[in-house]
Amino acid sequence: MTDVTTPNLSRRFALSSIVALGAAGLGAGARAADTKPSTPEKPTPPQAPDATHKAEPNASHPSPADQPGGTSHPVVKTESDIFYRPTIHFTPTIGFMNDPNGLVFDGTNFHLYYQYDPFAPYAGHVHWGHATSSDLLHWQDQPIAISETRDGEAFTGCAVIDRTNASGLFENAQGGMAALYTRASPHRQAQYLAISHDNGQTFTEHAHNPVLDIGSNSFRDPQVIFHEPTKQWVMVVAKSRLHQIAFYASIDLVHWVHLSDFGPSGLFGVDYECPNLIEVPLEGGGRRWVLFVSVNPGGPTGGSITQYFVGEFDGTRFIPDDTVIGLTDFAKDAYAMQVYSNMPQDEAVSIAWLGNWQYCQELPTQSWRGAMTLPRTMTLKRDFAGWIRLAQTPRHIETLRGTAIPFATRRIAAGSSAQVALPPGTAIELAMSVTVDERPHDLPLGDKGRTGRFIIVFGNEQGETLTIGFDAFSGQLWLDRNDLKGFAQPFFTGQFSTVLNPDDRHFDIRLILDASTLEIFANGGLSVGTALIFPAGPLDFLRLEASGAATTVESLSLYPLKKTMPRDTAI
Ligand code: FRU
Repeated sequence: MTDVTTPNLSRRFALSSIVALGAAGLGAGARAADTKPSTPEKPTPPQAPDATHKAEPNASHPSPADQPGGTSHPVVKTESDIFYRPTIHFTPTIGFMNDPNGLVFDGTNFHLYYQYDPFAPYAGHVHWGHATSSDLLHWQDQPIAISETRDGEAFTGCAVIDRTNASGLFENAQGGMAALYTRASPHRQAQYLAISHDNGQTFTEHAHNPVLDIGSNSFRDPQVIFHEPTKQWVMVVAKSRLHQIAFYASIDLVHWVHLSDFGPSGLFGVDYECPNLIEVPLEGGGRRWVLFVSVNPGGPTGGSITQYFVGEFDGTRFIPDDTVIGLTDFAKDAYAMQVYSNMPQDEAVSIAWLGNWQYCQELPTQSWRGAMTLPRTMTLKRDFAGWIRLAQTPRHIETLRGTAIPFATRRIAAGSSAQVALPPGTAIELAMSVTVDERPHDLPLGDKGRTGRFIIVFGNEQGETLTIGFDAFSGQLWLDRNDLKGFAQPFFTGQFSTVLNPDDRHFDIRLILDASTLEIFANGGLSVGTALIFPAGPLDFLRLEASGAATTVESLSLYPLKKTMPRDTAI
């Protein structure tokens, strides 16, 4: 997608004349004016807030580490830091991590930059942490790539590869990597450009930063793509508190011209954040544009949520197919989702922050906080009603499988269960396909007797359980982390549910349990649930239960997954 071929000259000329004339009020470092004519009959839109009274940048969350004394906490390592540390999910060695940033494939390696406070397990003093991988699963830590400066913290952004030096920013025709991100101070959020001369290890800020500044303190999280049909770079960026996503175009990554605004649309919440635009393949052929918008707080499950819109992008504006929003997750711990750029065959791959602003700074670890989801391949599929929806599956997890854990269960009678012991400390993958029997006609009336439920229980002798259940007669799925005792906080709610397919007693699921993380992919990836989990003790057995009606297990595989992260964990 970021492959820059010979630019369309007339388009290029048109765009450069706009830049030269300053028609949109744009030049490097200049303020962009909104070109929309005023519409007096409409109510006055809200203004981005004036946050001059705050000591920290305007964000949808408090940043305690920005407060005086906020970084002076001693880093204490506890047993929980090891027990809750995932083995195959990326976590920071120490400090606090939130959004993934700059997801880019450089032709050999994948880069994962991330919002990072290296000094404290709280948000604040945001730098870009950095890790690289050849498979998106085994990560090597790299030095901090972008630091906090006098201009502000290094908030969320993206990285692009300019393979032909179409931007003219690099010394030779091979081009290179550029990062576009927000510098955030209490008074201003503006977009900055930095160039890497060493393949993403370090970045040098462009001389004329900020490259896009509209005089707002609520304007952040740029993502840039190369739009092949119009031969221009397109930026999507959040006018956060106005609940809009702004689109800008550039031919050189330095001068940006305002194209259009999208929103408010879907959820209001408090802030729109981390927009991402990508073409995603549609099962059965073709590709459609998908615009992802993270919202915080204000998600229907509480706090942080990522919504998406399927539609058309013509190089200027995004037009959704309908007025419906999709949510990337039915639970509440997948936020600020970002997609990889420069992927071979334009594969659509994402990583989200496995967390929620409602409780991420209070989690029961001390020296580190924050995890990323596994990399996910994204496609679009038609659901039972024919609507196009996002499907997500964990990418290449099969490569981590150890020897299968024997667990042969073909049929589970109503009211009975089957159980197997789990190896301690290791990540587990469970994939199953089941069909619940038809509703028995002789069942008594009343709640219990009328349900046909298939339940997956991860538990321990201390009575802790984590359950994932399928209610076959209503076609719904639940996730229940309420009976885990390692963490309690008012917003750390325990139960989530989603609809699968009406009148369908068949259920397929693939899930990955890894220390304090659970990722569920059901219904061919159309129903995804991501949850932090904090058991007080190891979950050492898996039990499958049938209630109300018997269940036929069509396939079942259970694997330990080999550790990929060089961190102290329970194994
Ligand atoms: C989303 C977010 C972004 C911001 C970053 C700050 O989680 O609030 O809008 O750039 O985190 O760390």
